[in-house]
Amino acid sequence: MDGRVLVAYGSKCGSTKEIAEAIAMELRLHRLDVDVRPADVVMSVHPYEFVILGSAIYAGRWRRPAMRLLRRERKALMARRVWLFQSGLSVTGPGPWKDPTPPDVATLAAEIGVSRPVTFAGALLPETARGLLPRLMARTKSAGEHRDWDRIRAWAREISAEIAMQIGRSWSASGHDSLR
Ligand SMILES: Cc1cc2nc3c(=O)[nH]c(=O)nc-3n(C[C@H](O)[C@H](O)[C@H](O)COP(=O)(O)O)c2cc1C
Repeated sequence: MDGRVLVAYGSKCGSTKEIAEAIAMELRLHRLDVDVRPADVVMSVHPYEFVILGSAIYAGRWRRPAMRLLRRERKALMARRVWLFQSGLSVTGPGPWKDPTPPDVATLAAEIGVSRPVTFAGALLPETARGLLPRLMARTKSAGEHRDWDRIRAWAREISAEIAMQIGRSWSASGHDSLR
């Protein structure tokens, strides 16, 4: 496993994919060995010591490939350090917001022994919306670009610090980490 990190995601219109890529980029700044993959191409999490899995929320549910990966690999995930995230539009506008974690995700997270997903505000844009409903919704007031890249990168930075500690690397916020 050698400290390898998987960032896997479920995304329909691409905004959660970009969140996953931003997380991976932040981890790479800290010289971590990271693969970023759509959840449906991940055959196994066995090559990885650390797993970050996220999904967009549609109609209160995770995207099916991300859900399948979480369910299918749950035994292997129990033996790994895992972080979950999700993106949606229900956490935009004035709070407080209800935790949008789908019940089946909450159940599996508890079974695996990992915290519930961190929720990031997502995006729904006319130029990237795919499918009839997303295209229609992208033209409504609730749509738009709501991703908070500073918050996303800060979360990834916290993860990089924890991984660095676990694999015995020194860590600095700027990313100039070195082997001890
Ligand atoms: C048809 C549809 C249903 C949605 N349902 C939810 C939802 O239940 N909860 C939520 O927080 N966001 C919901 N959203 C917003 C998406 O989760 C958000 O736009 C997300 O960033 C899309 O990610 P993607 O670009 O990776 O597909 C919905 C969007 C669409 C188009």
